[in-house]
Amino acid sequence: MSKIDRTRGSIMELENIIFKKANKIATITLNRPKFLNALCDQLIKEINYILDLLSKDDEVHVVILKGSHKAFAAGADINEMKDLKLISHIKKDFIKPWEEISKFKKPIIASVAGYALGGGCEIAMMCDVIIAADNAKFGQPEINLGTIPAAGGTQRLVKSVGKSKAMELVLSGSTISAEEALNYGLVSKVVPIEDLDNTTINLAENIANKSLPILILAKEAILRSFESTLSEGMINERRLFQSTFELEDRKEGMMAFIEKRSPKFKNN
Ligand code: CAA
Repeated sequence: MSKIDRTRGSIMELENIIFKKANKIATITLNRPKFLNALCDQLIKEINYILDLLSKDDEVHVVILKGSHKAFAAGADINEMKDLKLISHIKKDFIKPWEEISKFKKPIIASVAGYALGGGCEIAMMCDVIIAADNAKFGQPEINLGTIPAAGGTQRLVKSVGKSKAMELVLSGSTISAEEALNYGLVSKVVPIEDLDNTTINLAENIANKSLPILILAKEAILRSFESTLSEGMINERRLFQSTFELEDRKEGMMAFIEKRSPKFKNN
């Protein structure tokens, strides 16, 4: 159990995740090994608590979300869900708090080994890049539980792998391997499991060296493409591009190129 020292506000005991921060990179490791990292309410609260801290922490440029070698996450916690009734969903809006992950402004890399099923696949898809180990398995098996995905499995999956494959996965509850996930564009890379951490850190370090405000704008521009028409997305992209010209880091980046040196971003 680890405590987070927060200068203002409350301190949360972390029981279901492990949190580390070094060199502009924060790592959140899902840590419920007995339940294959099933996503219980408390675990989601802990992730959201940390993301809230990280959103205010200018030292952190990029976040890695990972699980164990056996499971990234095997979905929502079925024990917690099994007795729920519609009335409690209406009152508490079950699953809604999960969406906070998708609203996080800085880049998040999902580093996936083993099972990424149901809610596990869905929170990986809320991240910006998915790097998969060769043993990763992705799927939306909710149909086998007599229900359907609830955290974007019928939405983000379609945008990622297309209608036919998304239908196959959601309607049959079958899983796909890391290689298939790569072929369908669900993940950006597949690596041997022993290389997963290094590959993820290498990408995180590369991203972490960029200017933080520019990273936030780049992520925002890409995510807008999911919510808008092409012409609206292009206008938004152009305006965000133009807004970078108010930033010192944009000037530094271009001057560094002209002066044939590496840029020294100050994140402003
Ligand atoms: N919730 C709660 N507990 C879970 C769990 C889950 N989603 N997935 C696994 N566990 C538990 C098991 O009950 C088991 O606990 P016990 O040792 O106490 O019996 C432990 O984790 C290990 O699991 P298995 O023995 O089943 O391990 P396995 O290697 O034989 O199988 C598996 C692994 C194929 C992932 C299998 O555990 C499984 O099918 N899990 C459920 C996957 C699933 O249906 N996910 C969708 C959940 S619904 C959802 O996510 C809704 C949404 O969209 C938000």
